[in-house]
Amino acid sequence: MVTGGAGYIGSHVALELLLSGYDVMILDNLSTGHRDTVDNIEIIKGGCEQVGDLHFVAGDTGDRKQLTKVMRDNPIRAIVHLAAFSQVGESMLKPGKYFENNVARAINILECMVQGHVEYIVFSSTAAVYGEPRAIPITEGHPTQPTNVYGASKLMVEELLRWYEQVHGIRHVALRYFNAAGADRSGLIGERHEPETHLIPLVIQKVMGQRPGLTVFGSDYPTPDGTCVRDYIHVSDLAQAHILALEALFKGMDSRIYNLGNGNGYTVKEVIDTVGQVTGQEVGYEIGARRAGDPALLVASSEKIQAELGWKPHFPALHEIVASAWKWHNLSGRK
Ligand code: UFG
Repeated sequence: MVTGGAGYIGSHVALELLLSGYDVMILDNLSTGHRDTVDNIEIIKGGCEQVGDLHFVAGDTGDRKQLTKVMRDNPIRAIVHLAAFSQVGESMLKPGKYFENNVARAINILECMVQGHVEYIVFSSTAAVYGEPRAIPITEGHPTQPTNVYGASKLMVEELLRWYEQVHGIRHVALRYFNAAGADRSGLIGERHEPETHLIPLVIQKVMGQRPGLTVFGSDYPTPDGTCVRDYIHVSDLAQAHILALEALFKGMDSRIYNLGNGNGYTVKEVIDTVGQVTGQEVGYEIGARRAGDPALLVASSEKIQAELGWKPHFPALHEIVASAWKWHNLSGRK
């Protein structure tokens, strides 16, 4: 069962699971996910052989009765839990919304797992658990001191997972994502947030004339060109890691935490230049003030998951990541 499977990362995870032959149930309340994303997963899988079956349940992780019923009525072997709110800025305005949705509902999931004897969970965590980095690249042993409610909510769930393992034996992998970007090669599913706050889709929307301006948040950081450095990881590479994590758990691996990034940092200006190159268009932008809470540099060490699970990014180059996002934006024709 993939919670949040109608969302951006969840839809790519569901697709990779199906293509790996697993039957997948997507549970999503469609508050930020999209029903037609699920339809598009169905279309993509229709063109492939030896894929699993896809089921969709319009369900809410806040509804424990429904969760219990879904787990009772279906042979669910593992949960990939992605359903969550994920806007850092909003989390600092509405902490209750984030703790309620991201933490309290994770307890529902775990309690239902206990009741339904589901033993494995892969959890979508975030680089935001680290807070301001003290050393780059960031390893899993880096201190966790989130500087925003979103990061704190994800760290709390990691803590819950540790206790549910100790008390109930539920084994987990928590994947700390850096900057997910790009889209499935089909161009049928991609990044679709409303409102959009992430850099690559914003730059593409600017090129497509769908937004009037683009502001670079700060150009006085201690980085090569003064703009923030981030580690952009292709969403399909990210999705692949969930399958490796699940299969390792199935084979008996004990619980783990892994970072997921490319290990390459790109500045905001480099991202804008890359979008310009991929689209063949000039991208106009202005330099604005720093955005509160943005660390200058966030780059992952993903050596642990590479060494232990054999994970390897297939699309590490920024231009490939941007090109896949560009394809999705064009095909989806969204305004
Ligand atoms: N940026 C701009 N202009 C914009 C939007 C973004 O300059 O209009 C810059 C940001 O300041 C940042 C970079 O582009 O330096 C990337 O910003 P995103 O909003 O795309 O991504 P973040 O690095 O802020 O956020 C990501 C994930 C979050 C996670 C966070 C961890 O999307 O879920 O990393 O720090 F919490």
